[in-house]
Amino acid sequence: MSTAEPITTRAVGTHHDRVDGPLKVTGQALYAVEHGTDDGITDPVVAWLVGAPVAKGRVLRIDAADTLRHDGVVAVVDHTNAPRLVETDDAELAILQDDRIHHRGQIVAVVLAETAEAAREGARLMRVHVDEEPHVAALDDGGLAAPDEVNAGHETDWADGDLDAARSAASVVVEQRYTTPHEHNSPMEPHAASAHWDGERLTLWDSTQGVHPVAKTLAPMLGLEQDQVRVRAPYVGGGFGSKGLPHSPEMAAALAAMTLPGRWVRLAVTRQQMFALTGYRTETRSHIRLSAEPDGRLLAVEHDAVSQTSAHKEFVEQTATAARMLYAAPARRTTHRVAALDVAVPSWMRAPGEMPGVFAHEVAMDELAEACGVDPVDLRVRNEPATDPETGNPWNDRRLVECLQRGAERFGWADRPAEPGTRTDGDWYVGTGVATSTYPALWMPGNATRIESRADGRYAVGIGAVDIGTGARTVLRQIAADALGVEVGCIDLAIGDTSLPVATVAGGSAGTGSWGTAITQAAQQFRADHGPAPEAGLHTVATTESYPDMENHSLHSFGAVFAEVRVDRWTGEVRCTRLHGTYSVGRVVNPTTARSQLYGGLLMGLSGALHEDGVRDPRFGHTVTQDLATYHVAAHADVPQDLSAEWLDESDELVTPYGGRGIGEIGIVGTAAAIANAAWHATGVRVRDLPLTADRFL
Ligand code: MOS
Repeated sequence: MSTAEPITTRAVGTHHDRVDGPLKVTGQALYAVEHGTDDGITDPVVAWLVGAPVAKGRVLRIDAADTLRHDGVVAVVDHTNAPRLVETDDAELAILQDDRIHHRGQIVAVVLAETAEAAREGARLMRVHVDEEPHVAALDDGGLAAPDEVNAGHETDWADGDLDAARSAASVVVEQRYTTPHEHNSPMEPHAASAHWDGERLTLWDSTQGVHPVAKTLAPMLGLEQDQVRVRAPYVGGGFGSKGLPHSPEMAAALAAMTLPGRWVRLAVTRQQMFALTGYRTETRSHIRLSAEPDGRLLAVEHDAVSQTSAHKEFVEQTATAARMLYAAPARRTTHRVAALDVAVPSWMRAPGEMPGVFAHEVAMDELAEACGVDPVDLRVRNEPATDPETGNPWNDRRLVECLQRGAERFGWADRPAEPGTRTDGDWYVGTGVATSTYPALWMPGNATRIESRADGRYAVGIGAVDIGTGARTVLRQIAADALGVEVGCIDLAIGDTSLPVATVAGGSAGTGSWGTAITQAAQQFRADHGPAPEAGLHTVATTESYPDMENHSLHSFGAVFAEVRVDRWTGEVRCTRLHGTYSVGRVVNPTTARSQLYGGLLMGLSGALHEDGVRDPRFGHTVTQDLATYHVAAHADVPQDLSAEWLDESDELVTPYGGRGIGEIGIVGTAAAIANAAWHATGVRVRDLPLTADRFL
């Protein structure tokens, strides 16, 4: 039933089951390489990627004679016969165009066969002859340079205030180095695509965080108009950033399909290949110097960050950006330097920059609390800035202090002994730690929505957004229902297809907010066009008007993470036994899906704190821990039984019309620091390098 103005919020803020839950748990939700004849996919060929056997050099010759003789092999695509790209500026995507090898594992050939077994065996039979050149694959061996900018367009270096004066006025100084290792997004569904070329149009069923961005990136490289590329992603088994930008396997699928017009090509990246081909978080090194008054009040914050990138495509982790805005201080200085190595291309991983940078900053804050004899919660409250130290702008609604205080109460922080290493339980040292979490409230312009009235008060709402497992499909229906003044059940939502109006990436924790604003504004336009009780068959298409005033406000989310850690006296084993986060994230659209997002972030932070460690062998330039046995990601047995997340009751209409801010990334930020700080409190051993493995406590 349609209702008259004014619209009141009803669905937003309430529990709704995931609309796609039943399809997922019964296996009926189809992923990129699962589509079949129902979707018009008949007689597919299977693609198998062949990677460069060296880190740098030239392909001299690809000997595919045995491959092509193998039963079932249909074709081999390499740099000698692949379709030519008309744009090759994106070196990561410009594969199979020349004989250059930029990193070990780079795609040098694709085997196409009637079965996966034949494709894999065909790849094994291939001989790739190379002229190997010397390479550099260790951060210590690469020269450091200042990039033009760091990820998300942040300034490379930024400083403010009179640093010399602040330094000389300080009576307490914490100056330390902190490191985080290579980390790899390990979504449940590996990167995959089904691709088809009919001579005119390219169709991809892709595992991606953004269908429109994939089409927009690939089309010009392939010499196509964007509307000649259709990308669909109805279900995606996680991404965490690794599917936020197209990577070379998508281009391989496209080039393979164009080699065999009329045939569907199915390409699934293996788990091992993901470690070379789908981006990763580079190792980071942070040099932090905190200068403070005796009571812990900060006088200066300095954060110098070093990371590595790939020599053939630059990506620089924005490790030091959080230090520009986290706490009040009269002076601060932040820098980023990067070494360009002959290695795989790094990219987005959940909270690029904030995750490793806040780890360093928040362990340093714990060290400052220790040095000043101040409670770590009080120290942070004492350094609360009234306005954004970076821009001078007012905050949207910074409620970090409330998060710290509520979280402390909920967690039972008060009975914590000040001295580390003083609480034991049998063979376990027991400690607690806290850290701040923060993430910007990003918002992306240029989203469009189509709304059409149907019979019985129903509406069809279409937007080319993607639900990568977050619950977007569910919460967008809630937002649409409120905007149109109907029940959630009256919304027929279509997403995940470039035939739907343009939408930005499910990334930067900005998906729901950016798309939800577009849906809300399109609904307002629809009601202006057609009134609140329209007959069936009327429609409106609207593109977002700019929404948040980012020039004059600093828009961020905050949180406080509390951890209890036990360290075994004899073995050094580290267990996180309690983990809690209190967050300020604006209005929560759906408490069920939101809690899952925050739990997922907390557990990914725990995983980074205790387990994840990508090890590269610089002699060969590849990641040797290229499976989930040697690259351990937190599993059920690693998860604390006492895990909780809560949020403040608030609504932030400066950021979105329905009052919500993004929640995809803030859960991971600060978590590793809270756990490291708790491990120090348990043992008195300060570990400044992730992950916190047992050997560090012996
Ligand atoms: Mo997220 S790393 O912005 O996809």
